[in-house]
Amino acid sequence: MKFFLDTANIAEIEEAVSWGVVSGVTTNPTLYAREGGKLAEFHDHIKRICEIVDGPVSAETVTLKRDEIYAEGVELAALHPNVVVKVPTMPEGLAATKMLFDEGIKVNMTLCFTVPQALLAARSGAAYISPFIGRFDDISEDGIEQLASVVTAVNNYDFGHDVEIIAASVRHPAHVLQAALLGADIATVPMGVLEKCIKHPLTDRGLESFLADWEKVKNS
Ligand code: E4P
Repeated sequence: MKFFLDTANIAEIEEAVSWGVVSGVTTNPTLYAREGGKLAEFHDHIKRICEIVDGPVSAETVTLKRDEIYAEGVELAALHPNVVVKVPTMPEGLAATKMLFDEGIKVNMTLCFTVPQALLAARSGAAYISPFIGRFDDISEDGIEQLASVVTAVNNYDFGHDVEIIAASVRHPAHVLQAALLGADIATVPMGVLEKCIKHPLTDRGLESFLADWEKVKNS
């Protein structure tokens, strides 16, 4: 499973990329707003991320009609070859995805929650499908169960083009574990989750005792 970073924070992206573990980045309007992002600087911000990450960088469209989504997508895709256009799961989004697919532009269909949505996203030409896990959990439903169904259903078919499933709305390492066991192609994770994924108390304790013992060796 590949790891994408789910953030618009440049410092986080630089740090995670330096670990050698990041294959891409996903952004959304909320993540950009969280960074104090300005409209006039949005394109430059996406370009900057693309220069840091050698992989797909999802930039989201914010219009509702197919022609507008398509126009936004064409503009975003022209920013950098790494850009993947994020399009919401809805009828106009499907139509725009088909139009972008026909132009050779990759789409990440976002806000996907169910198997029928995922199958339609794949059929319309989406290169990436983002089933959200955590937002199901937020409403006391089982996001992992939904992800399992999406992975099974999408992998049952050949859509005539590559489709990768991005486990999204990941809230903790247990989501990462489950997504990997289910065979999701990618997990897009916030920096905090990535940091938790590498931490373990037994690792900390082991390191502490190795270093303490090395002090004895040094002083011998
Ligand atoms: C996916 O690409 C989205 O940016 C993201 O995973 C949404 O997650 P949230 O539910 O934590 O906002």
